[in-house]
Amino acid sequence: PTPIILDCDPGHDDALAILLAAANPAIDLLAITTVAGNQTLARTTLNARRVCTVAGITDVPIAAGRSRPLCGDTAPVGARIGGVEVHGESGLDGPHFGTPAVEVSTKDAVALMREILLSHKEPVTLVPTGPLTNVAVLLRDHPEVLPHIAEVVLMGGGHGIGNVTPVAEFNIYCDPEAADLVLTSGLPITLCGLNVTHQALATQEVCDRMARIGTPLATLCVELLTFFTSTYKAIWGFPAPPLHDPVAVARLIDPATVLTRPAAVAIELTGEHTRGATVIDFHGVTDRRPNAHVATTLDTDRFWDLIISAIASFPH
Ligand code: BDR
Ligand code: CA
Repeated sequence: PTPIILDCDPGHDDALAILLAAANPAIDLLAITTVAGNQTLARTTLNARRVCTVAGITDVPIAAGRSRPLCGDTAPVGARIGGVEVHGESGLDGPHFGTPAVEVSTKDAVALMREILLSHKEPVTLVPTGPLTNVAVLLRDHPEVLPHIAEVVLMGGGHGIGNVTPVAEFNIYCDPEAADLVLTSGLPITLCGLNVTHQALATQEVCDRMARIGTPLATLCVELLTFFTSTYKAIWGFPAPPLHDPVAVARLIDPATVLTRPAAVAIELTGEHTRGATVIDFHGVTDRRPNAHVATTLDTDRFWDLIISAIASFPH
């Protein structure tokens, strides 16, 4: 199995990414690290513990990371720019969660990532599904980890599309400087952006399939998706919500699920209307060398099969 660290900000789709990564035998989930994004760091961390508790994931350390972007905004990111509208006050609105039984590590997320990277027997893949703050701090402050990172497969960005501004996607927009640091690190990067995640729509048919699994966890996932459906409908008029974050995990499990193209990707840092945009040169019109594999096409049948069998594999 591919050893990974999932760096996330749960978040409805992050929750499903956790379940997929924990369940699928092709992945060895070494740690879950959390970052401020869809909600404050305290809430995204609590949500990671909630998800692990309901799924019975007790052997994966959870560590909390950065509470604000690299360039020092003190306000909780989700509260500023729309994470709350999409994921609710808790960051994971919909189901009722009891008190989480799974604890958070006393280690800081960046310290835990470093420790795992330096001690694991083979290079580890980083899978960020929130703002890139934790990963950027890791690369900036601990460059010795670079040879120990196999690749970075992230959810973020998009080509000519945005969901916070007309051209900026949430995870990149929350911390563009962090995204720039990651994209210019020289590491192998796969970018699963909105063009591909908007193909992962959790339709009624998908929810019905999930409900038929019949376990309490499946019911909880349907409740998550029901809330997610209502906000995506209200805000953007989507018929069904895109399950962004599990797409990055699915790409690692079965590369044929997500087709990619190499391209040069730059992060817009200064544009008056375009800060946080991913500027993707698919046609080689700049002299920039490709620095990422950019996801273009999702095999939706394969994707939903992965999600459904992941949820079904948990005993409760
Ligand atoms: C990304 O933003 C968050 O709302 C989701 O969890 C996902 O990571 C999509 O733009
Ligand atoms: Ca996320």
